[in-house]
Amino acid sequence: MLILSMFFISIFLYFFYYYCLPFIIWYNEYVKSIYGGNKMKVLVAGGAGYIGSHICVELLQANHEVIVIDDFSNSKPEVLGYIKDITGKDVKFYEFNILDEKKTEQVFIENEIDAVIHCAAFKAVGESVEKPIEYYTNNLTTTLIVAKMMKKYHVNNIVFSSSATVYGDPEVVPLTEDCKLGETTNPYGASKAMMERILTDVQHACPEMSVTLLRYFNPIGAHESGLLGEDPKGIPNNLMPYIMKVAAGELPCLGVFGDDYDTPDGTGVRDYIHVVDLAKGHVLAIEKYNKPGLHVCNLGTGQGYSVLELVHAFERVNGVKVKYEIKPRRAGDIATCYADPTRAKEELGWVATRGIDEMCRDTWNFAKTRMK
Ligand code: WQD
Repeated sequence: MLILSMFFISIFLYFFYYYCLPFIIWYNEYVKSIYGGNKMKVLVAGGAGYIGSHICVELLQANHEVIVIDDFSNSKPEVLGYIKDITGKDVKFYEFNILDEKKTEQVFIENEIDAVIHCAAFKAVGESVEKPIEYYTNNLTTTLIVAKMMKKYHVNNIVFSSSATVYGDPEVVPLTEDCKLGETTNPYGASKAMMERILTDVQHACPEMSVTLLRYFNPIGAHESGLLGEDPKGIPNNLMPYIMKVAAGELPCLGVFGDDYDTPDGTGVRDYIHVVDLAKGHVLAIEKYNKPGLHVCNLGTGQGYSVLELVHAFERVNGVKVKYEIKPRRAGDIATCYADPTRAKEELGWVATRGIDEMCRDTWNFAKTRMK
């Protein structure tokens, strides 16, 4: 009798898990999308930027309300219209630099903010070596002002746009979140490590806060619409926008910074992650890491590609030529960096789903749309 009842119980559990549970999960999401369950008002600092704008799209499509502060120092006003074109929704926008503490405080006074995603920072390795004062002033002060206003107005959830550069030149790869934070090799990476430290200490002093440090590897790619993508002002510091401009004929030739690293083809290896996958990781982080405490999470694919592998993938996928020449190494660069993304999968249910071909295709689609 016992065996028979055990048999029927296991049959019931099998059917419940594989047929009823998915339906219950779907219905719960459907109800949330209709009645705005867990709808949050999220401030995206730097929300008109390359990564910030993609985060805004994913937040709006997840039925959250979005407020943006941006000074257009590394973005363009038309991005706000593109966000509307893609989602059919507006963000509430404020144009100023967060270094203006009074204006930043006014945003916290005027809006009942539930959470902050802090993307407002300068982010080019090479440039940071030449301009350390600007990088430390902008990146650290904006973080201190955001943290001050969150504490003052009891906003207890922040997701910080951090970077794999905080690991310095890694002794082992793939990198897990428990890898020690290395000697950062440039002011950009050092500022990110300091910003992490600021927010970690703030969380320690304010235990009611949830502070999430998302360590990005190398975000590239563009929204499938072709409306949003990385289009830095002037000469690009990062690899993919430079490749894009050479392929488009806007720049004559790509300089490959060093082919004598200890890597398969001698050029630098990085973990390139599609910016839409990255943005989706932020929505999950703001929704799931909402319990008080410090949460640290890598956002990468776990797959490394060299500079030349990315160049050749771009040419193959898009049927274009990318002229390049080998140049000396760039100050502050490291040989190899890629993620172990296990924690993001286990704690957020997040996995990067877009591969290198899609990153190249979407980048070129954005370039063609931008050039129309
Ligand atoms: C990638 C590889 C270069 C340009 C930094 C930040 C990271 C993220 C992206 C924010 C390296 C080589 C590059 C060029 C080249 N920032 N390269 N010619 O420095 O790995 O990462 O930017 O989200 O947090 O650390 O990115 O694209 O500059 O360089 O050969 O013209 O391409 O040497 O090996 P990086 P990158």
